[in-house]
Amino acid sequence: MPRVDPSRANPFRPGFGVSPRVLAGRDELLEEFDTALDEGPGSPLRSILVSGARGMGKTVILNELEEAARVRGWLIIRLPESGGILEELASTILPAQLAELDSERAVRRRVTGARVAGIGSLSTTAQERYEVRENAATLIARLLDVLAGHGTGVLFTLDELQAVDRESVAAFAALYQHLVRDERDVALAAAGLPVGVGQLLQHRGTTFLRRAERVQLGPLSDADVIDAVRRTVEGAGGEISADALAALAESVHGYPYLLQLAGYRAWRESAGGALTPAHVRATSRVVSQRMGRLVHEPALRDLPQAQHSYLVAMAQDDGPSSTGTVAARLGLTAQHANVFRARLIERELILPAGHGLVDYSLPYLRDHLRREAASS
Ligand SMILES: Nc1ncnc2c1ncn2[C@@H]1O[C@H](COP(=O)(O)OP(=O)(O)O)[C@@H](O)[C@H]1O
Ligand SMILES: [Mg+2]
Repeated sequence: MPRVDPSRANPFRPGFGVSPRVLAGRDELLEEFDTALDEGPGSPLRSILVSGARGMGKTVILNELEEAARVRGWLIIRLPESGGILEELASTILPAQLAELDSERAVRRRVTGARVAGIGSLSTTAQERYEVRENAATLIARLLDVLAGHGTGVLFTLDELQAVDRESVAAFAALYQHLVRDERDVALAAAGLPVGVGQLLQHRGTTFLRRAERVQLGPLSDADVIDAVRRTVEGAGGEISADALAALAESVHGYPYLLQLAGYRAWRESAGGALTPAHVRATSRVVSQRMGRLVHEPALRDLPQAQHSYLVAMAQDDGPSSTGTVAARLGLTAQHANVFRARLIERELILPAGHGLVDYSLPYLRDHLRREAASS
């Protein structure tokens, strides 16, 4: 019986929240964050707010930022997406972290016989120590004291920011702001869908977050896609021609989720041989449809009718649309149409494409809207 070579297993990962085998692009942001961690408290890039469409790689970026902090010996605290953030921190997350740090230190002391500076305030057993409920601020301060002894700090991460209760985010923002003012070694990386993040920042209590570095996660360059696909395929013992790489980059449009999906499908089509343009072309129907179901439909679900109509009017064009023509198609004044245009740009569904032009920012959205129109 032929044995399946495990190294030839499909290396692409078309799922949400799944880190890729090979990360494409994003070097600049990661380098800046590295620098911010090394620079010490006060660096503005220590607070990062990532926004982007579904599948643009937000969760993956948070994972990478966590990794950057982890290799520096920082502690990572993932803030809960539901429930009260401060309550969860005070009741479970921080006590657990403190207890763990203490036991590590206890082990190390036993092994090395050395005394660790600053241990005095943490010298009884974990159980006794954390029976009395203390608030999040006190516990974080204590955690940071311990970490300061190692020259490290805490990175807080928060995913799906658009879905988190605003009051809860505001309460955490206030606490975080104090830590920054006190020049503690803290960093924060949060990610969410564009509109949700925008709305959250309108909230009174989150003013401070408005000063965080805003990163709008955009598409990858074709060169980055090609490089990542080649390394993914070759790293798994496969082969791909230059033509196939070019075809793949063209169908992916720089969209990370599609890179994984098209790569996965093309790999499967190739059935163990070298990947060719024909294998890539065979994926195109599935790629467009899957994109519609998993990305376009959710993105359009809560869209006000007028903005939806604007998108549909754009779908008559095969490339970027003239804003004047779209207004005329809708029977609107240029001024009125501009309101919808601005909202759609805010949602990162369209983007300016040169003077008086707009284009979709999600690949295959045109196809999706045309299919939708044809079936209704
Ligand atoms: N920089 C990247 N390079 C390669 N693949 C990526 C990259 N970023 C994300 N992906 C892939 O795209 C898909 C969606 O990523 P994810 O982070 O879950 O998106 P989001 O959180 O924005 O919805 C996953 O399959 C992931 O492996
Ligand atoms: Mg995500």
